[in-house]
Amino acid sequence: MKIWSGAALLGFAALATASRVLPRNWDANDYYVLHLDADTSPHDIARSLGMSHEGPLGELKDHHVFIGKRAGHDVVKRELADRRRKRSLGERHALDGVLFSEKQVLRKPWEKRVIPEPLGAIQVGGAERATNPPVQSAVEAQKEIARQLQISDPIFHEQWHLFNTVQLGHDVNVTGLWLQGVTGLNTTVAIVDDGLDMYSDDLRANYYAAGSYDFNDKTDEPRPRLSNDNHGTRCAGEVSAVRNDVCGVGVAYDSKIAGLRILSKLISDADEAVAMNYDFHHNLIYSCSWGPPDDGKSMDAPGILIRRAMLNAVQNGRNGLGSIYVFASGNGAQNDDNCNFDGYTNSIYSITVGAVDRMGKHPYYSEKCSAGLVVTYSSGSGDSIHTTDVGQNVCSSSHGGTSAAAPLAAGIFALVLQVRPDLTWRDMQYLAMDTAVPINLESGDWQDTTIGKKFSHTYGYGKLDSYAIVEAARTWKKVKPQAWFYSPWIHVNQDIPQGDHGVAVGFEVTEGMLKEANLERLEHITVTMNIDHGRRGDLSVDLISPNKIVSHLSVTRKYDESTEGYDDWTFMSVVHWGESGVGTWTIIVKDTNVNAYSGKFIDWHLKLWGESRDASKAKPLPMPNEEDDNDHALIATTTLPATLTTIPPLPSSDAPPTDGAVPTDFPNRPVNAKPTTSPSDSDDQTTTAPAPGAETSTSGGTKTWLPSFLPTFGVSAATQVWIYGSLILIVLFCSGLGVYLYLARRKRLRNNPRNDYEFELLDDNADEEAQGLTEKGSGGGNGGLGGGGAAAGGKGAGRRGGRGTRGAELYDAFAGESDTDEDEDEEDSDDYADVDAAARRQYRDREDGSVSEGSGSPIGVSHKLPGQGRGRRYSGDSEEEHHVVGDDEDEEEDGGEARPLQGGNR
Ligand SMILES: *[C@@H]1O[C@H](CO)[C@@H](O)[C@H](O)[C@H]1NC(C)=O
Ligand SMILES: *[C@@H]1O[C@H](CO)[C@@H](O)[C@H](O)[C@H]1NC(C)=O
Repeated sequence: MKIWSGAALLGFAALATASRVLPRNWDANDYYVLHLDADTSPHDIARSLGMSHEGPLGELKDHHVFIGKRAGHDVVKRELADRRRKRSLGERHALDGVLFSEKQVLRKPWEKRVIPEPLGAIQVGGAERATNPPVQSAVEAQKEIARQLQISDPIFHEQWHLFNTVQLGHDVNVTGLWLQGVTGLNTTVAIVDDGLDMYSDDLRANYYAAGSYDFNDKTDEPRPRLSNDNHGTRCAGEVSAVRNDVCGVGVAYDSKIAGLRILSKLISDADEAVAMNYDFHHNLIYSCSWGPPDDGKSMDAPGILIRRAMLNAVQNGRNGLGSIYVFASGNGAQNDDNCNFDGYTNSIYSITVGAVDRMGKHPYYSEKCSAGLVVTYSSGSGDSIHTTDVGQNVCSSSHGGTSAAAPLAAGIFALVLQVRPDLTWRDMQYLAMDTAVPINLESGDWQDTTIGKKFSHTYGYGKLDSYAIVEAARTWKKVKPQAWFYSPWIHVNQDIPQGDHGVAVGFEVTEGMLKEANLERLEHITVTMNIDHGRRGDLSVDLISPNKIVSHLSVTRKYDESTEGYDDWTFMSVVHWGESGVGTWTIIVKDTNVNAYSGKFIDWHLKLWGESRDASKAKPLPMPNEEDDNDHALIATTTLPATLTTIPPLPSSDAPPTDGAVPTDFPNRPVNAKPTTSPSDSDDQTTTAPAPGAETSTSGGTKTWLPSFLPTFGVSAATQVWIYGSLILIVLFCSGLGVYLYLARRKRLRNNPRNDYEFELLDDNADEEAQGLTEKGSGGGNGGLGGGGAAAGGKGAGRRGGRGTRGAELYDAFAGESDTDEDEDEEDSDDYADVDAAARRQYRDREDGSVSEGSGSPIGVSHKLPGQGRGRRYSGDSEEEHHVVGDDEDEEEDGGEARPLQGGNR
C-alpha cells in the first residue's frame, strides 16, 4: 500500500514538475550556474566548456546548470577570461553569450527559528496561566463552534492561538471565518524547512506531493530524516492539520500543504533558488521560519541566485500575481539582534512576521525592525503553540519562537487567497498592513503614520486578525503595479563622532522626480549604505521622512564586534507606507558607544518603492546583478553636506518626534553654535548645540565662515547663509578635487598600471554626474550644490577606489598566490578600458558571477574577508568549510580574479 502510493506520488511529481534537482556528486564534479542570453544554446556552451548540461535552473529563465570534472579552480571563469582576450578577433563564439556564471559551493543551511533559551528568568512563568482558569462562557462558545464545524480533534481545546478561552481575544480570530466556509480551500502553502511528515495522519490528507521536494536528500518526499527534523512538520500542522481525530487543526485546515526540505544538510545557492520557486504556480505561499543566526552579530543575506529567484517569484509565480513569502522575524531579540540584519526578512518581497505570546505580550526572543510588517501568536508567558508533530499520531505542545508565528500568518494568508485568489503579492502586504490590530499601545514605541495607521518597531502594524483581513480582502481594490525611485549615491565621507552626536544628511525628493519615476505613493523604503567602522555593533541608523516619521533602520548590538562596518548593506522599512515621498529625507548615523572604535559614514543610496501613477507605464524590475551597487562613482552621485547633530535618543515612546528634535532641514541650514567639547573631538568638526535637540553644525572645514546662529532663525537669512556657504563649498570642493586628481594621476602613473581605468572612468563621468544632477533639478538649495556635488562625487569615487585598494591589500593576506589569474586579469583590465559600457557590464557580470558566495552586499573582495556579510557561513565555520566543496584554492582564485574589480569599479 505504502509502496503503491509512494510510486504514484513519484510519478505524479515527475509529471508535474520539471524543476527537480538531480542527485549530485560533489566529490567528483563541480557545478556551475550560467545565465545565457536568449540566442545561446546550452548545448553549445557545454561543448565549448567540455562540460555536460544538467538542465535549466528551476524556474529562472535562461539559467542553466552545467557539470564539469572537479577542478581546483573555477574553470568557467578561466575560459571566459581566455575568450575575452580573444574577442577582439571578431566572430562570435558561444561563450560570448554567457551573461553570468557562478560556481556552486555547498554551504551550511540556514538556522531554524526555534525557541531560544531565555537569558535569565522568564518574565512570566507557566504559573500565571495555570492559575488563570478558563472563562466558562468562552469554553461553552468553543464547544459550540467545534460542534457546528464537526471538529473532534483531541487537542483543539488546547489550541489557544485559534480560540483562547483564558485570555479572551488573544487569538487569531479565525473561527468566524470557518463558520463562513473560509478554511483554505483551493490554496496551497509550501513549508520551506527541514521536512514534512506526509505520513502523519494529521497531514496526509492535505499533503500536496507535486509541490514537495527534498533538496537535501534529492528525493521526492521531504520526509524528516534527522532526529531533530520536526520543525517543518510542526509548522505544517499550524497551517494545515486536518480536521479529524488526530491532534488539532490548522488555521486553514482545508488548505493543501507542501514540504520543501532545505535545512537538514549542506546546500548550494542553486538548490535553494530552485526551492524558492518550486512549483510556483501551485505553491501560492512559501512559509520560511529560518534565516541567518540570531546571535546578534550576523549580518547576512541570500546570494544572488536566491535573490533572483525571489524576484522571479513575485514577477512570475502564481501565474504572474506573485508568490507570497512569509518570513519569521527572528529570535535574537535578547542578543540585540534585529531583523534588518537579515537579508530575507528585510527583503521587500517577504512579509516579516514577529511574535506575541498568549497574554498579548512581546516575548523576549521576537526581533524588532523597521521591516517587520505584523505579528501573530507564538510561545511565551509559559505556553507554546500546540500542533502536529512527526509521527503517525503525535502532537507537539512546545512549538514556538517566531518560527511558529510565520506559518500561522501563512495560513491566514491562505484564507485570504481562498476568498480573493486574484490578489497580488503587494495587495497581500497592503491588506496585512491595513487590517493589523495595534496592541500594547502604552509600551510598543508606537508612531502615528501619515495614513492614520500606527507603527511599532516591535509589533509592526499590529497583530493579524484573520477575520478582519479576510473581510477587507473581499472588497479590496487591487493596487496598480510597482514603481520605484532611486536617489543618486550620496557621498558623505564624514567621520562619525562618538556619543550622542550623529552625522545627519538630508536628501530632497521633489514632486518632479517622483512624477518622472511614475511613483504615486510609497510602500517600502530601502537604504543601501557604506560605513567603515572598527566595531559594527556601536552603530545605529535612523531615517526620518519628510513627514517626520522615523525608521530605526539599524540599532546598536552589544555582541556585534565585526570590523567590517556596513558594506553596501541594504536596510528596509515599511514604516513610511502611504507617504508621498516628497520632501527631505534625513539619515542620521550615530556611534553611541564612546570607546576606542570609531568610523566614517561613506555614502548611501535611497530607494523608494510603491504604487505607480500610470499602470500602463509600469515595467518589471530587472534581475539583480552582483555589481548593482558597485558603481558608486559611475552613476549620478552627489555629495551633500553632513551636519553633526545632537539629537536626543530618538523617540522611545509613541510621540512622533517634535520639530525641534528632528532637524529635517538642516542640510540647508549650516549653523555654528557655540563649540562645546564632545568626547570625540578628533578633527575640525566639533560644534554642538547647547540645547539638546535643535542644534546642528557644520560640514567639514566650514565652521570659520559661519555667523553665530540661533535655532529659530528666519528662512530668508538662512537662505542667505546657505548661498554663501554653497559658494564657498563649491570653491573648496573644486580646488580640493583639482589637487586630488593631480595627486591621483601622479600616483597612478607611478603605481600599479592595473588601476588605470579607475581614474579614466572617473573623469569621463564627472560631466555626466553634473548633468545628471542638474537634470534631476534637485531643488533650489541642492541645485547650488550641483557643481560641487559632481566634484565631490569624484572625491567620493576616489575614496571608494582607495577603499577597494585597502580591501585588496587585506585580501592579499588571505589570498596567498594566484599568479596566473592575476596575470590574466591585468590583461583583462586593459581590455576593459577599451570596451564600451555594455561590454563592461558583461565583463563584470562574469567576474562577479564567479565570486562564489554571492551576497546581499555584493562586493567582491569583501566576501573574502572573514566575518563579513555572508562570509559568515564560511568563516564562522571554517571546519565545515573544508569538507565542503569549494576548496581553498578555489576561494583564493576567486578572490584573485575579483581583485581588479575592487580597484576599478567601486
Ligand atoms: C473577530 O471576528 C468577529 C467575527 O467572528 C468580528 O465580529 C470581530 O470584529 C473580529 N475582531 C476584530 C478585531 O476584527
Ligand atoms: C476552487 O476552485 C475551483 C476551480 O477554480 C472553483 O470552481 C471552486 O469554486 C473553488 N472553490 C472554492 C471554495 O473557492
